[in-house]
Amino acid sequence: MKKIILGIICISFLLVSFTVKSNKEITTPVKTTSIEKGKKLFNSKTCNACHQEKIKIVGPAIKTIAAKYTAKKGNIVAFLQGKNKAIVDTNPGQVAIMQASLSITKSMSKADLEAISKYMMSIQ
Ligand code: HEC
Repeated sequence: MKKIILGIICISFLLVSFTVKSNKEITTPVKTTSIEKGKKLFNSKTCNACHQEKIKIVGPAIKTIAAKYTAKKGNIVAFLQGKNKAIVDTNPGQVAIMQASLSITKSMSKADLEAISKYMMSIQ
């Protein structure tokens, strides 16, 4: 009888630790998924035509944008919603080029913009 009770206790412990572990495993992929979702959106909305991850083409490299937004504690979502001014490249000609793309991002959901922001901020 004692052995059975001990056995039940052991199994319960195993189950509890397993549940705790699997919860942890669920949270990590969610983060990478939203970065991946952001990357997909970034490419499908053709942002990558002007922004590469590491090098400047028409627009600044994503790496440069992320560094500036980290240093200035900026909000990419608010910029893409047209609420905040440019802080990376304030040259009026450059700002005007990017403003044209805001017509796309302004109509996007906040969740999608947050995914794009997460993706951009993940590039170092
Ligand atoms: C036609 C070229 C072009 C396209 C397409 C484009 N961008 Fe830009 N982007 C620029 C230029 C040029 C700048 C530099 C001016 C500026 O900083 O606002 C810029 C700057 C930015 C910045 C930094 C803003 C700041 O605070 O200075 C972000 C964030 C950004 N782009 C995101 C995006 C996203 C997301 C998309 C896709 C929806 C996109 N861009 C599409 C040219 C482009």
